Amino acid sequence: MRILVTGGAGFIGSHFVRQLMVGALPGYGVEDDVVVLDRFTYAGNEANLAPVAGRSRLRVVRGDICDPVVGGELMRGTDLVVHFAAESHVDRSIAGSAEFVRTNVLGTHTLLQAAADHGVGKFVLVSTDEVYGSIAEGSWPEDHPLRPNSLYAGSKAASDLVALAFHRTHGLPVCVTRCSNNYGPYQHPEKAIPLFVTNLLDGRPIPLYGDGRNVRDWLHVDDHCRALALVADRGRPGEIYNIGGGTELANRDLVSRLLELLGAGPEMVERVADRKAHDLRYSVDCSKIGEELGYAPRVPFERGLADTVRWYADHRDWWEPLRRLTGAAGAETLVETS
Ligand code: NAD
Ligand code: DAU
Repeated sequence: MRILVTGGAGFIGSHFVRQLMVGALPGYGVEDDVVVLDRFTYAGNEANLAPVAGRSRLRVVRGDICDPVVGGELMRGTDLVVHFAAESHVDRSIAGSAEFVRTNVLGTHTLLQAAADHGVGKFVLVSTDEVYGSIAEGSWPEDHPLRPNSLYAGSKAASDLVALAFHRTHGLPVCVTRCSNNYGPYQHPEKAIPLFVTNLLDGRPIPLYGDGRNVRDWLHVDDHCRALALVADRGRPGEIYNIGGGTELANRDLVSRLLELLGAGPEMVERVADRKAHDLRYSVDCSKIGEELGYAPRVPFERGLADTVRWYADHRDWWEPLRRLTGAAGAETLVETS
């Protein structure tokens, strides 16, 4: 089998590839050929693939998903596409949204067209719970209307719906997944958990937006990738699958746990201006993927968070260059453009 992984040099995509290469994903074996297509934006990093670099079954292509020639060439002979490539940081979409529409909407459309033209066997679009908007109580089922608030979520919702329309119109075997907040190793240090951890490791305060009551449902990246493999292997074409972690936490409670893990006091929390259109709470109903595909998260949050903190403490060589490049110190470093 040949598997094309777009965005395979980013946080979640590279975890998926590293797991694939060691045969750790259900339904896939060490004999499968894996092709990574990545533009290597600020979020794509060769170091994320270093543990599997040089394997004969892995080919890494530096290219843009908006380029129909690249997409077309790579689709030929491909059995499965797992599409991670995206602009993924909400704060960046507030600073400038053009690249989000280009990559997330136009790039996804270009890939879908190429996949349909070449009769690809399965196309998994990695979407997000943010497409539903914000929910004060209860959880969203997959058929809940989409009400995205950020430019990131709006662009993901567009790509998500375009993918489903490719299934209905052209019969492309698409599955869409909508997942909650991931955490784990190799996450870029401008996202909340790595930003907070690396700030504390450097003796700098944590920039907490607003009153810190916003709730996120945290899922270890390992659980997300296992769920994606189940969907790729056995998910029904044309279907949407929510994926969640079952660990809902207000940001201020997350911050308290990090302070404790790193032996820091409350004076290390700096309340800063709230994010524009900051969603209060996300919560997905995951019963469908549980009942149909037998998925349930396995990594307990306490253990996953402690392991993640330890990973960042042990891997300064990985994150210090990224912080120097992007000046990752919170949204105040992002200048609004369009
Ligand atoms: P990331 O930003 O770490 O990685 C994105 C990758 O896509 C990078 O390697 C980047 O170089 C690549 N890329 C960007 N534009 C490209 C283009 N035009 N052509 C080719 N490659 C391009 O993102 P992530 O956190 O790993 O998220 C991966 C996917 O999962 C995204 O689609 C995101 O919307 C979705 N998702 C993320 C989370 C989360 O908590 N991080 C949760 C749910 C869904
Ligand atoms: O829900 C899934 C989504 O989770 C994914 O689709 C996105 O790609 C991913 O980036 C993530 O989006 P969030 O906006 O929820 O994640 P982020 O890590 O940016 O922020 C998590 C929470 O922490 C959010 O409520 C905002 C808050 N925050 C974030 C930063 C960067 C702060 O309080 N301070 C900060 O400096």
